[in-house]
Amino acid sequence: PRPILLTRHGESRDNVRGRIGGDNVLRHLVEVIVTCYDSDKGEIYAKKLANFVEKRLKSERAASIWTSTLQRTILTASPIVGFPKIQWRALDEINAGVCDGMTYEEIRKNMPEEYELVLFLFFWLIRLNSSSFFIMAEVRLHSVSLVVYELWSITITCPEVSHLFPCFFCKYRARKKDKLRYRYPRGESYLDVIQRLEPVIIELERQRAPVVVISHQAVLRALYAYFADRPLKEIPHIEMPLHTIIEIQMGVTGVQEKRYKLMD
Ligand code: G3H
Repeated sequence: PRPILLTRHGESRDNVRGRIGGDNVLRHLVEVIVTCYDSDKGEIYAKKLANFVEKRLKSERAASIWTSTLQRTILTASPIVGFPKIQWRALDEINAGVCDGMTYEEIRKNMPEEYELVLFLFFWLIRLNSSSFFIMAEVRLHSVSLVVYELWSITITCPEVSHLFPCFFCKYRARKKDKLRYRYPRGESYLDVIQRLEPVIIELERQRAPVVVISHQAVLRALYAYFADRPLKEIPHIEMPLHTIIEIQMGVTGVQEKRYKLMD
């Protein structure tokens, strides 16, 4: 059986700062040329990965290294020698659209927890007022409030109607509720990523020689889920740690998996 090795790029400056998306290595090109990589850990991982790959695939001269078109994966692959390298746009990280370059904290700060709170208070007050005086009315009002609340939840959760919501951050709230379908404004959803990975998967299936895929968290979650036969709804939540190689062996008896944690 021929192995497929999946790994995220080495830790980047944006990872350290908790920023999503971006192509920060390009933005700091001069600095990168000097230090080779934004984070020391990232640079060390790139070297460790090269050692690992050169030993593991020593006798596999037809093996190849696939990266995304983003600098952090290309740099992670750069110490690996002796194998052809192919860049795939389809392996680029999920496009976070207007959130590109933001931290989760920056996004969270603007989330509409207050909207939800106001709504809850409103329904709670309706309930309180009515229950003191008109029990029957309370039952009716309460059910009405539940229906309205449900409709409101569906509105912000469902991507087809969430665009009707005026506030972008109300939309972001929807990501927590349905991370698989949530599409970043002017960006992508996990479902979009899964769809654009189709040609990569077809090519991976076709390969006879081992392939090392150096990509990004969201993309690797989707690729891994395909090979490990994990359900669609789990994809956005699969653990995909940094500095770890997931080796997948596809044999006649099924898929086998090994993990190598090269560093923290
Ligand atoms: O946006 C970049 C991340 O690698 C994807 O992670 O889908 O858990 O936010 P997330």
